[in-house]
This record gives sequence, structure tokens and C-alpha cells, in this order.
Amino acid sequence: MAYTVSKLKDYSASAMEKSVADCIRACAIEAASVHNDAELKIFRDRWMARKNGILTQINDLWLKGAPKDAKREAGIRVNELKARIQKIIEGAKVSRADSASAAAERVDISLPGIRRPIGAEHPVVKTTNEMVRVFQKLGYSVAEGPVVETDYYNFESLNFPPNHPARDTQDTLFIAGQQSKPQRERLLLRTHTSPVQIRTMEKRRPPLRIVIPGVVHRNDPPDASHSPMFHQIEGLAVDTNITFGDLKGTLDHAMKEFFGSSVKTSFRPSFFPFTEPSAEMYVSCFICGGSGRRGNDPCRPCKQTGWIEILGCGMVDPNVFEFVKDNGYDPRNVSGFAFGMGADRIALLKYGVDDLQLFFNGDVRFLRQFS
Ligand code: DAH
Repeated sequence: MAYTVSKLKDYSASAMEKSVADCIRACAIEAASVHNDAELKIFRDRWMARKNGILTQINDLWLKGAPKDAKREAGIRVNELKARIQKIIEGAKVSRADSASAAAERVDISLPGIRRPIGAEHPVVKTTNEMVRVFQKLGYSVAEGPVVETDYYNFESLNFPPNHPARDTQDTLFIAGQQSKPQRERLLLRTHTSPVQIRTMEKRRPPLRIVIPGVVHRNDPPDASHSPMFHQIEGLAVDTNITFGDLKGTLDHAMKEFFGSSVKTSFRPSFFPFTEPSAEMYVSCFICGGSGRRGNDPCRPCKQTGWIEILGCGMVDPNVFEFVKDNGYDPRNVSGFAFGMGADRIALLKYGVDDLQLFFNGDVRFLRQFS
């Protein structure tokens, strides 16, 4: 039998207690049989509807009909009853929501898992790591520095004269709004990894052997062989009595290790503000074996010369050491060599890729070939 509200005849404490308990029990039983939205609505309306819901009826039949001296007591009990009923109704809602979300979250453990493809090293990163490894085996440690650099580290301390073309806005990407600062403090995107030479020499005393991989930027429009963002690998060795012979021996060994023992190296005079003397180092073309030809065709990567330019290098200019003299780099006591190469260019050559942009536009069909 469904619960109905009847008039209270007896307003004694025990009689009221019993009526309240009967009412709560009835409500709880009805709540347990609510299974869907439609049933929930009927249940709520039956108990809560303002017009003729059970709580309204209780108000009318129990409170209004109460004798004066029982009115206060009856009011308290009816209020308590309302609070209990409201809780039960809310509970009916919550437990329904619970079961609905539990159903939605149910895991079917018989289904196979989601396959998450394992990524692979990007060819430029792979090339960088391989080259870094070659130098680590020679006792070099890895040093890194910031990509947003000051004019001081990128240029001044590397002995760039004030109007050297590499400072030109054509090449260097400057951070905007720096005009009020002194020139040496102005921020820019480093155009090479060489500033890490100075930064490391400020922190570590000689002897020093470091290899510096990193991202650099220049204001170059992207094409098959240029990108405004590219990667370099830099090296620096400082000790007493380091000679150009050490430079040649180290780099020749490193190239044989990296490209294969049959490659030869060739050093040709060049200029960099931070090295003196400076050189460009070539390796014999590892594609045509140095002949300049592939069968009857000209060898394109070496432009038929049999040689490929790989890096810039030289003996650290004493003017550079002057900037870190106080940390043990007095040019009268120490000497060193440095080198820098483009990791992207080496990756292009190594993998026979003819467009630098392929490395950077994120096409997985291209990148997957290197995994
Ligand atoms: N920083 C030079 C560049 O970006 C490359 C370079 C040349 C680095 C000679 C060196 C070096 O350390 O000795 O063009």
C-alpha cells in the first residue's frame, strides 16, 4: 500500500515520533525503487510538489491542525522530517548518477589496449648525438647555454669588431625593445653556439675540453639549404701547449670515426674573429669516394670537387682569452683550439636528403624512415 498522510489525532511525543518514523521509512522504500529519470521525477513530485506533495500535506494536516500547546513541538519535528526526506530524495538522485557514470566508465578488459607508437630520434638529433659521442670518447664533456643570448656573449667577447657583418640585422634576430640598454646587454637569438665557449670558460678553469650542441637562429628565409633555425655542434679544447697539430689530429680522428676510416681531411685558410689562425675543414666526399663522379654522373653533394666542407675551426684568438683571463685563461699560459659545424648539413649529407625543410616541417611520412 502506498503511503498516504493522515491527520494526527495524538500529538504526544511518542505518537509523533512514530508518525515521523513511518513517513521516513515509506519515503526510503520508494527511493530504493527509483531506476530512471522518469521514475525519479514522479518520486520527487509525489513528495516535494508544492501544491499537493506529501510534505505540503504534512504541513496542512499535522501542523495546521495541531493544538496550541503542541504546535511548537510539532513544528520542530516536521522540520526535521522535511530535512530527512530531502536527503533521501537527493540520495536517490546521487546513487542514480553514480550508477550512470559507473556504467560509462566501465572498462572492458577483454579489449586489446590502445597502441601508442614509440617515437624515434629525429635525424638531426641522431646525427648530433653520434657526433657528440665521438668527442665524449675523446674525453670531452657536454656544455650547453641559452638560446636567447646577450650581444656580449654572442659577439663582443668573441672578438667581433663593432661593425662586423655577422652583427648585421640581416643575419641576427634581435629581441625587440632593447634599444635603451647598452649594446652588450641587448638580447638576441644566438647566431652560433660559440658564446657557450665564453660562458663555460667563465665557470670552469682550464684544462677544458667541451662539446656544445645547440639550436641557433639567423634571419635567413627558408629554402632547400637554409632555415632561420638550425643546429650546431661546437668544440673547445684549452690547455697548456695546445697546437694546431692537436686541432688537426683531433678533428681528423673524429671525422674518421664519424664518416668511416677511409675519409681524409683537408684544412684551408679562413677567417673567424675568435680564432687565429682559422681554417675550414673539408672531408673527402664520402658519397663518391673523392672522385667527384658517380658512375657517368657528376657527384652533386661535393659539386664534383671530391671534397665537402664540414666545419670552421682555428686556434682560440688571444683576444678571446683576455675576456676570461681572470679565471685561469691568461693567453700567455694557455692555448686552445675551437671548431663549429652545422648538424643539419651533416645530417643532410649523411642521409642523402636534398631539402633541409624536410627536417623541420614535421611530416611523419618523412621522419618515419629514420626510426
Ligand atoms: N661560429 C662559427 C659559425 O657559426 C663556426 C665556428 C668557426 C666555430 C670556427 C668555431 C670556430 O668554434 O673555431 O659560423
